[in-house]
Amino acid sequence: METRILAIFNQAGGVGKSSLTRDLGYELTKFQKKVLLVDADPQASLTEFLGLNSQDLEQSLFESLIQRSPAPIHHVHGMDLIPSNIDLASADFLLNAEIGRELRLREALKPIRSNYDFILIDSPPSLGNISVNVLVAADEILIPVQCEVKALRGTTHLFSTIEKVRMLNPNLKIAGIIPTLLDSRTKLNTETHEVIRSRFGDKLHVFTPIRRGVAFAEAAARALPVQLHAPRFEGNTDIKKLAQEVING
Ligand SMILES: Nc1ncnc2c1ncn2[C@@H]1O[C@H](COP(=O)(O)OP(=O)(O)OP(=O)(O)O)[C@@H](O)[C@H]1O
Ligand SMILES: [Mg+2]
Repeated sequence: METRILAIFNQAGGVGKSSLTRDLGYELTKFQKKVLLVDADPQASLTEFLGLNSQDLEQSLFESLIQRSPAPIHHVHGMDLIPSNIDLASADFLLNAEIGRELRLREALKPIRSNYDFILIDSPPSLGNISVNVLVAADEILIPVQCEVKALRGTTHLFSTIEKVRMLNPNLKIAGIIPTLLDSRTKLNTETHEVIRSRFGDKLHVFTPIRRGVAFAEAAARALPVQLHAPRFEGNTDIKKLAQEVING
């Protein structure tokens, strides 16, 4: 199977990108896929969600982007992880001075890419050099969109960024939109989910929505994928369906 590099991308904050990267990655391992997670956010949520202390890392994604050193790989819950820490915030600035600055992440992944079926990249809630690196390194983008009215406003900007990046990465595909934080007991949430489906559904694939559930935050606190933290949580079926849809491409 060809390796697929998926960016979990949306410049909007708090839409569930890091949680999804963790749980989708874990779910893919249950389908016998070899998975690498890449934390490309200086906030290092994914790194922390998986139990690493980002402050204690000797090497992180920062060194592989700036010094081009081999990416450090950690093993967590059957997945591999390239962690991040706050240093990455300065990479955004330091890269401004570099030729080929948009290609650093793609180059860092090149020697290890073929070891995996899926590489999932968690991205920061911003649009700087790091985000561009993520979109240039990726084959496909998964866009989590929160089921809230305000969440739809930022998408125009998002799509124009993706269009610009296609000059550097012409084959970049949008795999689809993932409605997140859906509370089906809330009328406004359900309506927004409908709006997402009608607004994007004819042009883009709209994946199974991920329901809202406190288990996701608890899992983060316990440094576990939600499936391990709460095996009987109904939201796990959302992640499973999503993983199947992603695998089927
Ligand atoms: N489906 C969900 N239901 C309830 N809470 C969730 C869900 N997904 C994520 N959360 C919680 O919402 C918060 C934000 O989630 P997360 O960090 O995954 O979003 P993000 O898009 O990565 O944020 P950022 O843009 O800051 O990187 C976290 O506290 C997380 O535990
Ligand atoms: Mg995040």
